[in-house]
Amino acid sequence: MAKTVLTAVAWPYANGPRHIGHVAGFGVPSDVFARYHRMIGSDVLMVSGTDEHGTPLLVQAEKEGVSVQELADRYNRQIVHDLAGLGLTYDLFTRTTTRNHYAVTQELFRGLHENGYMIRQTTMGAISPSTGRTLPDRYIEGTCPICGAGGARGDQCDACGNQLDPADLVDPVSKINGETPEFVETEHFLLDLPSLAEALGDWLRERRDWRPNVLKFSLNLLEDLRPRAMSRDIDWGVPIPLDGWADNNAKKLYVWFDAVVGYLSASIEWAYRSGDPEAWRRWWTDPEAVSYYFMGKDNITFHSQIWPAELLGYDGRGAKGGEPGPFGTLGLPTEVVSSEYLTMSGSKFSSSKGVVIYVKDFLAEFGPDPLRYFIAVAGPENNDTDFTWDEFVRRINNELVGSWGNLVNRTVSMAHKNFGQVPEPGELAAEDRELLDEARAAFDVVGQALGHSRFRAGITEAMRIVGRANQYVAATEPWKLAKDPGQAERLATVLWTALQVVSDANTLLTPYLPASAQQVHETLGRSGVWAAMPRVEEVVDDMPVQPVGAGVPAEGRSYPVITGDYREQQAHWGRTDVVPGTPLAKPTPIFAKLDPELAETGPAWAPIQAPAEA
Ligand code: MF3
Ligand code: ZN
Repeated sequence: MAKTVLTAVAWPYANGPRHIGHVAGFGVPSDVFARYHRMIGSDVLMVSGTDEHGTPLLVQAEKEGVSVQELADRYNRQIVHDLAGLGLTYDLFTRTTTRNHYAVTQELFRGLHENGYMIRQTTMGAISPSTGRTLPDRYIEGTCPICGAGGARGDQCDACGNQLDPADLVDPVSKINGETPEFVETEHFLLDLPSLAEALGDWLRERRDWRPNVLKFSLNLLEDLRPRAMSRDIDWGVPIPLDGWADNNAKKLYVWFDAVVGYLSASIEWAYRSGDPEAWRRWWTDPEAVSYYFMGKDNITFHSQIWPAELLGYDGRGAKGGEPGPFGTLGLPTEVVSSEYLTMSGSKFSSSKGVVIYVKDFLAEFGPDPLRYFIAVAGPENNDTDFTWDEFVRRINNELVGSWGNLVNRTVSMAHKNFGQVPEPGELAAEDRELLDEARAAFDVVGQALGHSRFRAGITEAMRIVGRANQYVAATEPWKLAKDPGQAERLATVLWTALQVVSDANTLLTPYLPASAQQVHETLGRSGVWAAMPRVEEVVDDMPVQPVGAGVPAEGRSYPVITGDYREQQAHWGRTDVVPGTPLAKPTPIFAKLDPELAETGPAWAPIQAPAEA
């Protein structure tokens, strides 16, 4: 059903280039979803940007010997190009170091504070005894006080997924130099989660259709709700917008407090840039609007707990009551769609372990659709999955090239050779009708799957139709019919039927494979934009906003964004009739076969490494 759909995509950290594990979690699934919704006529707003605060940026900047803003600028630009190259159709992909983002984040904080959901408290903060500097949470490691796993970080335990405070860790040590941190008193603002617990529970228990593990995990979090610090002793981030705090350059809002606000600030920036500054409200304050959030599983807590809590508190919907601020009553997530991890030979992708495949290199060599295909069909939708070059080569060569590419190529080739155009069919035989009916029915099946974020099921059904069409061609043997002049009408009917099903399969595959869908569209003798692509545009930070405090971004900086005109595309969900008489040229292959050797060696830029000697 067509709807007003916010597609909210997790914000990648701008502390380095992104690898294929990242885009498997948030990128491809969100784009498949948004493209499908546009095709059924939904009013989609898809937003994200780079997440540029927090200690990961500080630490990397120090390593590279540049300022944090310089580092953020560099990787923001690189990530923008990577994600646009992958064909991700953001209405706006921006960044968190804009004046607008600072202003919106500060408004959220103010609203929460006025409604009583931000409590000021003296807590224990870690410092490095040797340098006297505060020690960021992520750089303290120890044993998880909840599950007992080693290697838990000061902010989160990856083994059980719980959020932590560094002071809770058993046997904490600094990851920077191994020393035992000292804990000293420091003042912070804490989000009063206990007073929002009931409202959170009411919302979560009404959720239907979430992936079971995501819902279960989120419900579990309700068991242990404590106030959580939303500020940090750090000089990089959004200033706390209160008198006596804003100008203190040593305390900023916690990166996760501001990052999730990005969904709202990016929507507001999009509206401003589109020429209708209030347009964002359709996706945020209309109770009929739905919102889907896409991410990897290490982000669930922040989207099923922290962000909804920020929204509920801002709206005044917790136990302490309150009034919504000028943004109005903001909608909570309809669904948190989380993927598991894409691993390579068992270990979670990590640049430190040297098993990293960058999106940039991947796109340069293979283009977007092979990666999109692999992630959709073999990615970590419900389980951690391993990326191997072997499986990549197999799936591309057998399925994308061998099954789909070959179907398009041989069908159009034969029609071109025998008729030079889409032929006029004669009377349909039972086998023709069966195939046509099956292809038509697939729109419902794949549509159901896509509407429920079951991306693997969707592409599996689409590829089943491709397989059926190949069987049909094998069974009807049009190359034999072509040799018999008495069979000209049957040949025309068979090729027309096959072309119609190629067209149907192409529509079914369009959300997954937009670049090749455009090519197939043209191969079928059609013109114009079938599947729209994003573009990168340079914009100026010029919104009429007034963020306050020390270190807010300067006005007038320019930065790249991803945007696009997606409403103009022809792609729509359902059968597009192939029209007899449409001229057909000799087709050029849509996909290139990969060298089988790649399965054994990997590419030069990410060679397969022999397992390290024990
Ligand atoms: N930067 C975070 C990460 O890469 C994701 C932030 S998602 C947001 O894990 F919602 F907070 F923006
Ligand atoms: Zn744990």
